Amino acid sequence: MKESSYKYAQVYQAMREKIAGGTYRPGEKLPSLRQLSQSLKIALITVQRAYAELEAEGLISAVPRSGYRVAVPVSFGEKPRNPLARPLKVDGFGSDFLSSVTAHNRNPKLLGLGGASMARELLPLRHLAECSRQVLRESFEQTILYEPWLGNLELKREIAKRNQRWRGESSLQECLITSGGTEALFLALRSVTRPGDLVAVESPTYFGLLRMLKALSLRVIELPTEAATGMRLDLLEPLLRRREVKACVLIPNFQNPLGSLMPEESKRKIVEMAEAKGIPLLEMETCADIFLSGERPLPLQAYARNGGVLSCISYSKLIAPGYRIGVLQPGRFLAEAAAWKASSTLASPSFPQLVLARFFRYGLADRHFQRLRSFFQLQIPRMIDLLLRELPPGARVSQPQGGYLLWVELPQAYSGRELFQQAVSKGISLTPGEIFSSSGRYGNFIRLNCGLAWDDRLISAVGTLGRLTRKSKKP
Ligand SMILES: Cc1ncc(COP(=O)(O)O)c(C=O)c1O
Repeated sequence: MKESSYKYAQVYQAMREKIAGGTYRPGEKLPSLRQLSQSLKIALITVQRAYAELEAEGLISAVPRSGYRVAVPVSFGEKPRNPLARPLKVDGFGSDFLSSVTAHNRNPKLLGLGGASMARELLPLRHLAECSRQVLRESFEQTILYEPWLGNLELKREIAKRNQRWRGESSLQECLITSGGTEALFLALRSVTRPGDLVAVESPTYFGLLRMLKALSLRVIELPTEAATGMRLDLLEPLLRRREVKACVLIPNFQNPLGSLMPEESKRKIVEMAEAKGIPLLEMETCADIFLSGERPLPLQAYARNGGVLSCISYSKLIAPGYRIGVLQPGRFLAEAAAWKASSTLASPSFPQLVLARFFRYGLADRHFQRLRSFFQLQIPRMIDLLLRELPPGARVSQPQGGYLLWVELPQAYSGRELFQQAVSKGISLTPGEIFSSSGRYGNFIRLNCGLAWDDRLISAVGTLGRLTRKSKKP
């Protein structure tokens, strides 16, 4: 064997063993190419070759601006369940525990690792203030009158113009301005289901969706969802063949809580599969503009051919949660969605629509999203590093491809609920994993928010979490 091939094989084998033996844990940063070449006194290209091989095997992954990290196993230790199992009634939602979690997530006195919302210093305060002043100066009267029932025309034009870059033709469809993403999802579900219907969702999934399914008396099937690539289409396909699923709801771009991104090819496939069977697909977009590498991912709707995708968008996560502005592009279900809008909120509040229309018109949204992307490209890897240092051995942290949430699996013996209670008593909020499913899974998981300034308070809170975790073993 040539000397260089021999050295390459040695580096490759040594790293492989360190990963398998747990010296380097899932998500942990590996020595840089340069560091390793210097410490082992071998050529950079030899280390590069070894890393390329490990990457091709899926053992490590290159993270933009952060170097190489140990890959996180995609399915987080969850055994795939039989998707043809009995559908569940959505139990436990609307419970006291869920209300207590969401109340703590909003408590400004706690350090907010719980809610999926950004600290105010990351929101575009100055630009929104300037747009608000202009609206009050130039069109105060309009702010106290009804806007058109389906939304302010200028805002809809601005949104369509912006979205045309990735939605193509579908951006020209009629859309409704809604009261947050929540109303968009509610109108979409009402438009395509009736009480008792069966709906397929990702697992884990956003607890607000499960609460809504319960409120609408819908039954649910939770499909295994991978931390890297999203819903398992190989399991969805037989499910759609065998059961009368009336709708499928998913968050293809940076899922809440996993941060997964469905590959474009899978998006094309799922839309094709659902349209062929006439099953509406509902998608939610909250953070698609915060991609940590590559380009802005496409929504499912970009692949729709016959209006079978209902797209819900929320601006709460990235611009202004209190404005309560969302969008529903209901595909071929416009008449149904508009009728439900007429009998729910009739029209959304005028003032935030007028302010947002300016915010988009002046190009401020694009600048803001660019700033957020730069921030989270640094923030996510440093939060992962800190968590892996502080949490007990065996803990695993997701590697989201966008958005600003982390999904953390603690070893089986630990309880997310217990940790939540302990954390609150120390002034920290977090979201226990169990509320992301209606079937009592994810008891040893938590979801953490990274949308906070990187400062001593945050660093010390993660240290406190690490100490508390060790005390949160299940009774
Ligand atoms: C996936 C998803 N959909 C909807 C919402 C709620 O959005 P809004 O505040 O705009 O109603 C959230 C908030 O966490 C979410 O994560």
